[in-house]
Amino acid sequence: MTTEMEEQSREVIITPEQIRERIGELADEIAEKYKGKRLLLIGVLKGAFILTADISRELFNRGLDDVEIDFISISSYDKNTESSKNPRLLKDVDTDITGRHVLLIEDIIDTGHSLAALKTLLSNRGTASLETLCLLTKKIRREVQLPVEYVGFEVDVWVEGYGLDSNQYGRANPAIVKVMFPY
Ligand code: IMP
Ligand code: MG
Repeated sequence: MTTEMEEQSREVIITPEQIRERIGELADEIAEKYKGKRLLLIGVLKGAFILTADISRELFNRGLDDVEIDFISISSYDKNTESSKNPRLLKDVDTDITGRHVLLIEDIIDTGHSLAALKTLLSNRGTASLETLCLLTKKIRREVQLPVEYVGFEVDVWVEGYGLDSNQYGRANPAIVKVMFPY
C-alpha cells in the first residue's frame, strides 16, 4: 500500500453475508419476472463483474438456466472522482441485442450520467425490454433521474469492495467498505 492509502481509513458498512442475502432476495424477484424468458445479462465493467457472476448463479439456482452473459465498458470518470457527463464507450457488447430481454448490471449509480448513456445506447438497438440492477445507489448525488428496477443498498459515502474500486484499489474485498479520505 502506498503512503496515500495508509492515510485513508476503511470501515465495513455491508458484510459479505448481508450482500449475499440481498442478492438472494433480488434474484427471487428477477427469476419470477423472467420465468420462461431468455434473459441477457449485461455487466458494466469493471465494477459489476462480481455482481454479474453472483446474480447469474443465483438465477440459475432459481430455475433461470437460459441466461446469457455479456459485458460493456464505458469511461465514467475523466480523472479521479469527477464524474463525466459524457461517458465514452470503451468496449461494446458482442451480442446482437435486438429483440432481447436485457438486464443491465451496474455496481453503483452516482450522478446517473453513466446509466443514462448506457440506457440510450442499448435501447436504441430495439431491445424487447431493458431493466437495471445495481448493487448500490447514491440518491443524494443524482443529477439524472432514471428508474432502477432492482437496487441492493442505498449509500451516501465513497465505497470500495465487491467490485468497486478507488483508483483500481479494493475491488477484491468481499465486503463493502466506507473510505475516509484524509481531506
Ligand atoms: P455516475 O455516472 O456518476 O452515476 O457514476 C457511476 C460510476 O461511478 C459507477 O459505475 C462507479 O464506477 C463510479 N462510482 C461512483 N461512486 C463510487 C464509489 O463510491 N466507489 C467506487 N466507484 C464509484
Ligand atoms: Mg462503473
